[in-house]
Amino acid sequence: MTAKTGNEWAVADAKNRFSELITKALKEGPQRVVRRGEAVIVTAEGETPARPPAPGPTGRVEYVEHQPQPAGARRVLLIIGGGIAAYKSLELIRLLSKAGVKSRVILTEAAQHFVTPLTAGALSEDKVYSALFDLTDEAEMGHIELSRSADLVVVAPATADLMAKAANGLAGDLASTTLLATDKKVLMAPAMNVRMWHHAATQRNLARLRADGVAFVGPDEGAMACGEFGVGRMAEPTAIRDAILRLLSDGPLKGRRVLVTAGPTVEPIDPVRFVSNRSSGKQGFAIAEALADLGAEVTLVSGPVAIAPPARATFKAVETAREMLAACEAALPADAAVCVAAVADWRPRAALKDKIKKEKGAAAPSIDLEENPDILATLSKAGARRPMLVVGFAAETSNVEANAKAKIARKGCDWIVANDVSGDVMGGAENEVALITRDGVARWPRMAKEEVARKLAAEIAAALA
Ligand SMILES: Cc1cc2nc3c(=O)[nH]c(=O)nc-3n(C[C@H](O)[C@H](O)[C@H](O)COP(=O)(O)O)c2cc1C
Repeated sequence: MTAKTGNEWAVADAKNRFSELITKALKEGPQRVVRRGEAVIVTAEGETPARPPAPGPTGRVEYVEHQPQPAGARRVLLIIGGGIAAYKSLELIRLLSKAGVKSRVILTEAAQHFVTPLTAGALSEDKVYSALFDLTDEAEMGHIELSRSADLVVVAPATADLMAKAANGLAGDLASTTLLATDKKVLMAPAMNVRMWHHAATQRNLARLRADGVAFVGPDEGAMACGEFGVGRMAEPTAIRDAILRLLSDGPLKGRRVLVTAGPTVEPIDPVRFVSNRSSGKQGFAIAEALADLGAEVTLVSGPVAIAPPARATFKAVETAREMLAACEAALPADAAVCVAAVADWRPRAALKDKIKKEKGAAAPSIDLEENPDILATLSKAGARRPMLVVGFAAETSNVEANAKAKIARKGCDWIVANDVSGDVMGGAENEVALITRDGVARWPRMAKEEVARKLAAEIAAALA
């Protein structure tokens, strides 16, 4: 199939849907219809079109903008990748429309072998986008604008190819450029052959995308179009719709402020040397992201780490424990505080102004340590400013639960998430934790840090409900 040029699209689109659009627009809200020669512009009353009508080859209708939206209408940008499951995404558009969610569709070039732009356009009642270098599209809605025109970006089916491009920040076509340029949450519904799914490269890309904050639904296990059986079937359209509605909802933590600390602290010895620890910040960053997903207003205070903070959290970078405490106190009041940071218990008593010199024959210098402020205990005893729920993390290498229970009593916090850090937890992708509250202990199996984060965020939402 050869792709249409921008103008062919504009004309076909306008021809097919012009009268329908006008009737609909006029029925659904106050409208202003402007005729300029043969071009017609439809805008919501009071708005002016962002750009003048693009001249088109027929001299007829080329520009229809600002279809009226019902108040509060939500919109997803649906990227359909080139897999057999693409047909299911047409059903998804219909299900979303029934749920009051509008879809704007990008079809990859490969996807057009499986579904037609005409069908996607008819179901979404909108223009379908495909080409990155399309002058008409760029005149009407630039690719950057397109990437931000929705409340959520959904990739279904997410092919192995689209996952690989997004994981590596490639931007060679409209779909991947959109994924790189968007400032919105991305949900992917992977679909591929079982061997493609289990391939180390795909699993690497999946981990990378999860760490970048991409949400996933599926894939499911079952019989595949290729005749094989296993994990790789795209989640059912109803399951994808539910995941979309969850992500679009305001969330149970809307209006709640939550403070999260993460990463290590760095305590200087002299201008070039410091005392620190191996915390990567992954667990704390994932918790900040999961809380933001549930609608919380999150402040994330972190020591130096090598990962990017979640886009929707207010981020405060600090180095020392004392700086972290000051940033936490400045972030109060908060409804909940989750102290995940591995705060150095001690700091060198005096951070020397000049580098300690190695003198020939001189004895090795000793470092005199003094105690750092206890951030968890300070927040737990903050009087009227104490968050309603204070959660600490206890990184232990032995007697994990007993030590965690003692920590609740000693620090005055409400919950402890205890993890055994004797293995590869620090810096690793997974965590095995126990949630210890005053009522008991819930042991969670080993799972991805993002999964731990989602479970903990759900517990916090339930506690604050
Ligand atoms: C019949 C057929 C079915 C395919 N199904 C899938 C699929 O389910 N998942 C997938 O990742 N790739 C699938 N592919 C391969 C993709 O179409 C191919 O990687 C393409 O480059 C993806 O482009 P896109 O990611 O831009 O949509 C299929 C190819 C063919 C010919």
